[in-house]
Amino acid sequence: MQCAIKEIPVYFPHLHGNEKKYLNECIDSSWISSKGQFIQQFEERFQTFTHAPFAVSVCSGTAALHLALLALDIHPGDEILVPSLTYVASVNAIVYVGAVPIFVDSLPSSWQIDPADVIKKITSNTKAIMAVHLYGHSCDLAALQKIADHYKLFLIEDCAEAFGTYYQQTHVGNFGIVSTFSFFGNKTITTGEGGMVVVRDPSLYQKISILKNQGNDPERSYWHTLVGYNYRMTNLSAAIGLAQLEQANIILQKKRNLALQYTKQLRDLPLQMHQEDPDCIHSHWMISILLDEAKHRNPLRDYLSSVGIETRPFFHPIHRLPMYETIESGKSCTIAENISSRGVNLPSFPDLTEAEVIFICDQITNYFVNHLSFSSDAAGMLEVLQMSI
Ligand SMILES: Cc1ncc(COP(=O)(O)O)c(C=O)c1O
Repeated sequence: MQCAIKEIPVYFPHLHGNEKKYLNECIDSSWISSKGQFIQQFEERFQTFTHAPFAVSVCSGTAALHLALLALDIHPGDEILVPSLTYVASVNAIVYVGAVPIFVDSLPSSWQIDPADVIKKITSNTKAIMAVHLYGHSCDLAALQKIADHYKLFLIEDCAEAFGTYYQQTHVGNFGIVSTFSFFGNKTITTGEGGMVVVRDPSLYQKISILKNQGNDPERSYWHTLVGYNYRMTNLSAAIGLAQLEQANIILQKKRNLALQYTKQLRDLPLQMHQEDPDCIHSHWMISILLDEAKHRNPLRDYLSSVGIETRPFFHPIHRLPMYETIESGKSCTIAENISSRGVNLPSFPDLTEAEVIFICDQITNYFVNHLSFSSDAAGMLEVLQMSI
């Protein structure tokens, strides 16, 4: 099937609600910096959507993680357990506070942090587990919470990729002592750049609110009680965020439909989709495939690129990056390496049409028709594939 559109990106945001109207209100009123009505409205609506007790808007997901660790008094030398298969910001934030990232392997089924490996890597210096909900699927939060309680560790949730993800019917972000979100332009809801810190404890809420605002005492102008940061969100970003939240259920439903369509159309190929565990409602931030064989990953991406389809490789395991490769714990993260070498993120934006998904799936099928070698297994599969195009 031919598709008229030549370039299909991995992502672009769905900006079809009140974004422009609210931005114009910021400009008309001249409230374009980090004061203005949209900040509070965005935070309140975010709290309502996620059922978070307290939410503090910030300028990025990375700033949110940094504040989470500062608020918990994580010190130089403390060890933080973090999956190696994540975006680099999760790990960088640990280093910003002088702590040591300890890399944990992934589960082959959900691709999330492996609770058994968490237990293996706990030492007397361990202070926290950072659970990253990768690509929109939740971690095994029941297991992680049990471990955190037993060993008296903080559970931090990095929900940057998991707006709209639920674990046992509860929105992620409500399990950790501190949780963080990102609203970068390719996230399920966006503010351009932006983030949120979510907490249950009022004193942590207070501390994070002060830290993000140069350590300023909220009761006394220019009285700074902590070495703080300028991590504030602008009213412009919050205006976009509020409009996005008004559309959130529509966006999430569209993404869910896309994931179902991809799953149906790719079912006979030598790959697996990102399965949804029974405890999880997956938000499908990145609709992803894991190829049976790593050797097909780059040629498939090159082929898709040649027909106008953008894809992304999975993150490199962070323990492979130059600044982290000497950390011993990374060496045992072999499942993370394997998943990383076989994974591809497909176009996942909410406005992707049914015809575009058909086109993408046909092209993936074409690739395999042309590249599977003629073993007897492959011959059987080829027959199925040729019939399905
Ligand atoms: C897992 C994870 N953590 C943290 C971040 C950082 O968020 P930001 O880009 O808003 O700083 C991202 C962003 O993509 C992410 O994917």
